[in-house]
Amino acid sequence: MARKKVQVSSRLFLGQASNYRAKDVLKHTFAIGSKKCSNNLKQFLATSYHAKPENVLLMANGRSALAQALQTLLEPGSGVIINGFTCYAVVQAVKFAKMEPIYADIDEKTLNFDEKTLENAYKSHKNAKAIIIQNTLGITVDIKKIEDFAKKHHLIIIEDLAHCAGATYRDGRKVGSCGAAAALSFGKGKSLDAITGGALIMNDKTAKLKGQPATKHPKLSDTLRARFYPLLASIGRGFSKIHLEKYWYGPLIKLRFIERAVDAKLDYGHRLAHWQAKLVKKQLENLDKQGFTPIRTHRFVKDRGACLAELAKNGYNFREVWYDVPVSPVRYYKALNFPEKACPIATEVAQKIINLPTYYPYEKLNRAIKIIEKYEEKA
Ligand SMILES: Cc1ncc(COP(=O)(O)O)c(C=O)c1O
Repeated sequence: MARKKVQVSSRLFLGQASNYRAKDVLKHTFAIGSKKCSNNLKQFLATSYHAKPENVLLMANGRSALAQALQTLLEPGSGVIINGFTCYAVVQAVKFAKMEPIYADIDEKTLNFDEKTLENAYKSHKNAKAIIIQNTLGITVDIKKIEDFAKKHHLIIIEDLAHCAGATYRDGRKVGSCGAAAALSFGKGKSLDAITGGALIMNDKTAKLKGQPATKHPKLSDTLRARFYPLLASIGRGFSKIHLEKYWYGPLIKLRFIERAVDAKLDYGHRLAHWQAKLVKKQLENLDKQGFTPIRTHRFVKDRGACLAELAKNGYNFREVWYDVPVSPVRYYKALNFPEKACPIATEVAQKIINLPTYYPYEKLNRAIKIIEKYEEKA
C-alpha cells in the first residue's frame, strides 16, 4: 500500500532571532561603530520625535529607559497605570522607580486599555500620577480619548515604544510624540531589534533630564552576548529541526552565553554600544522608507496547547506567545498577585491568544493560518 506523503514545510520560528536572515546575522555579528554612530542615532531620534538631542539618552535596555522616565517625572510612591496585558519588564521598571503598578484591563479588540478600563483602574487607585501607553503588538490606542482622560485626572503620559516604534495613531500623529517621554526598546524581537538596548526621549516642554546620561561602556559580557545571540540562535534553530535544541540552549543559558530577554537587569550606568546604535539607525531609516509593520500579529484560539502542537508537527514553532499570562512570563507572574478579577479580559485573552510572525512570506504561512483557523474562536 502506498504510504501517504506528509508534506513538512521548512521550519518557521517565532522568536530566537528568527527575523534575522543570514545576511543580517553577519551584519550584526561583525558590525563596528564609533561615538559618531551614537551621536547620529541621538540626532535622528531627536529629529523624528521633535526633541532636543540633549534630551535623548541611549541606554542599556527599554526597561531602564522607562524607569528613568518615571523617576525624572514623578515622586516615589506614585501610582503608574499600565496595560493589564504586558511584559514583566514594564512592572520591573515601575517597581525599580519605587512606584506602584496599577493594572488597567484591556479591550479584546485592541489588546490595550481604553478610557473605560482606565477609569475603573483610577477609581480604586487615586494615587495614580501617570499612564504608560503600550500600543500592544503595534495596535494603537485612541490617543485623543486617552489624552482627555489623562488631562481630566492630571496624569502624565509616557509612551512605551517596545512594540510600536514607527507606528502612527489614527489621528496621524507619530507614536512617541504625544507624551512627556517616550521609551524605546531595541531588545530581542522588538520592532527595532539590536538584541539589547533602549533609548529615552524626553519631551522638551515637560522635563529636563535629571538623570545622568548613561556614559559607561557596555559591559564586555553584555556586548558579547548581544553580538553573538543571532548567530547562536540560528544554530539553535538548526538543532530544533532535529529536536535537540534543549541540549544547545540549556548549557548556553546556564553558562550565561544567552540571557533570556525578560531576565535583563535595569541599568542606568551603561550605554548602548556604538555598533548597536549604527544598526538601530539603519532600521529607523528603513522604517521611514517602508512604513511600520508589527513584528507579529495575533488570533484567538480555543485550545492553544493543541493548536501549537499541531503547528509544531507541521513545521511551525510559534510557541513564544505575547502574552501567555497577563504579565508575562509565568515564572514572574506567580509572585505578582495580579488582580485577575479586576482584569478579566486580559486574563482571558492571555489564555487564547496566539501569534503569527509577519516576516515570512504569506505563502509560507498559508498552512499555519489554515491550522489556526480550525481552532479559531468564532466571533
Ligand atoms: C511592552 C514592553 N515594554 C518594555 C519592554 C522592555 O524592553 P527591554 O527588554 O529592552 O528592557 C518590553 C520587553 O520585553 C515589553 O514587552
